[in-house]
This record gives sequence, C-alpha cells and structure tokens, in this order.
Amino acid sequence: KAHIAEVEAFSAKSKEEVETFRIKYLGKKGLLNEFFAEFKNVSKEEKKEYGQVVNTLKSLAQEKVNTLKSALVSTEERSGVYGDLSRPGEPIKLGSRHPVSIVKNKIVDIFSRIGFNVSEGPEIEDDWHNFTALNLPEYHPARDMQDTFFIQTDPDILLRTHTSSVQVRYMENNKPPIRTISPGRVYRNEAISARSHCFFHQVEGLYVDKGVSFADLKQTLQYFTTEMFGKSRIRLRPSYFPFTEPSAEVDVYWGLETETDYKMTKGTGWLEIMGCGMVDPNVLSNCGIDPEIYSGFAFGMGIDRVALLLHQIPDIRMLSENDIRFLEQFKSSL
Ligand code: PHE
Repeated sequence: KAHIAEVEAFSAKSKEEVETFRIKYLGKKGLLNEFFAEFKNVSKEEKKEYGQVVNTLKSLAQEKVNTLKSALVSTEERSGVYGDLSRPGEPIKLGSRHPVSIVKNKIVDIFSRIGFNVSEGPEIEDDWHNFTALNLPEYHPARDMQDTFFIQTDPDILLRTHTSSVQVRYMENNKPPIRTISPGRVYRNEAISARSHCFFHQVEGLYVDKGVSFADLKQTLQYFTTEMFGKSRIRLRPSYFPFTEPSAEVDVYWGLETETDYKMTKGTGWLEIMGCGMVDPNVLSNCGIDPEIYSGFAFGMGIDRVALLLHQIPDIRMLSENDIRFLEQFKSSL
C-alpha cells in the first residue's frame, strides 16, 4: 500500500527518470513481478485483498508511465528538433504558370479539339526554312517586314522571325492531310518598349488537304475567336504576306465597354489579332506538296500581346523580367 502512495506521488522531469521508474515497478525483475511471485506464500484469508492491491498497483504504475511518457515527449519535441508538432500545418503553395504559357496552352487546347496537333522546330534556323521556302527568295523586299538577327559568321543562319519555319519543316516531313499548330519563341531586331520586344511568342496554324477553301479558314477563325475571347464578331481586311495568297488581317470586335477596351482598340472597337491566308502554291511545291491536288490555309498570331490584353498587364517587358511577385499572380489549370 505504501507503494501505491509512492506511485501516485511520482513525477519526472525527463524520459530517463520515467524509464528508471518503469524498470523499478514493471521491469522483468521489478517489484510487481516480485509481488506476484509472493502470491503463493500469502495466506488464504489474505489472498483476495493482496491480489486486489497488487493489481491496483500494477495498473496505476502502467498508467503513470504512459501519461508521463506522452507529456514528456511533447515538451521535449516542443523545444527540440521537431518544432511544435501541435501547430497547424503550412498550407502547400500552389504553383503559378507564366501568362504566356497560359495563353499558349489555351490556344493549343482550342485547336486540338478540332484535330490540330502541335509541332515544334528550332529557334536557330536556316535561310531556307525561315524565308526562301516561304516564297521569300534572297533580295525579296518583303524580307524587310521582319527585321532579322543573323549569325555574324554565316548569313545562312538566323534566329527565326516566325514559326512559319516550323510549318515548312512539317510539310517537308508529312503528307496531307496536315492539321498542325506551331507555338514557339521568335526573334526580331526591334526597339524594346512597353509594346514590343526583340523576342516574343507565336502560334501559327496550317491546314493542308484536298479542297481546303477560304470559307474553311473563316469558319475556323470564327470558332477560335469565340472560344478564345468569347467574341464572335470578326472582320478580315485584305493584307499581304509572301507565303499566302490571298492574305488577310483578322480583327476581333471588342465592344467598347471599358476604358481598357477603348485603349486596346484605339477607340474603334476592332482589335487586330492575327495574319492569315491561303497557302501560296509556290510554298506548297517548295515543300514537296502538289498544289494541283492540295490547297491549304495558314494563320499566325503573337501571344504576348494577347496575354497583356487578357491579364491587363501594362508592359510587355514584365513578361521576361522574372519578377516572382509578378509571376505568382497567375494561376491556371491549363
Ligand atoms: N508569319 C506571319 C508573321 O509572323 C504570320 C502569318 C502566318 C501570316 C501565316 C499569314 C499566314 O507575321
């Protein structure tokens, strides 16, 4: 009975003290086993009470060890290597996606739904794929439309000015029907400002098959602008590209509800978003496709300005400054 009092009064400051206590009472050679061994020597009349006392002592000792152990574990951990395990967890940070990637992925998604695959090619190109095959032979004045970075030692090697070069590569290596879009970074030797940079991103599209017409092009553009911008009113203005004939510039009607709409569209409500046209027969034959059998359309758009527009970003340079405070603001499931 004296032991019961001792057990009840026991307290400990460390795990080691608890362990010593446990061995003393509950260990193999501990007091409790001794008491149980003693049982057979206890007289018949006393057996009942003796048993009860020893059993009480056992459960008290076990309980004591358990409560002290868990109390001490948590105080040690609280001040020790584990930190405070009872604190709520840090929320897991969601990653962000670059606004240019968000727009690119959206465009890829929209065209993949109507059977376009994705093709890619090198950013360092040769003259043939960037210009000559696209109906822009040497000294063609339209080469000046895209101010080009050349490699100093070799005028044949340049930084691609558009991803039309990827379409050339694709036509050289695949037979119609061809339905492909080519996203990627392109380079032009332009003055850097809030509105333009010496590199930016494009998605160009190409459809080549038997009997592809301008009506197919218009309907595809209509589908795209509705899915992309939620705006279905478009207009095609005649334009010129060496690789398409006829060629057009596509404008989307942007309404004029907000001041941003007004600024983006220079007050007219029409916003230019891409160039397009029917692939010039010369381009098809340059790439090994018979223009007597096949026809096609192509289009190309810059995606950085669309990203600026959709996310109300005031300066194109912010897209390449890698400022984490800027980048963290963009989340997307696409
Ligand atoms: N390659 C053109 C550009 O970079 C865009 C374009 C593509 C125009 C396809 C017509 C057809 O400006």
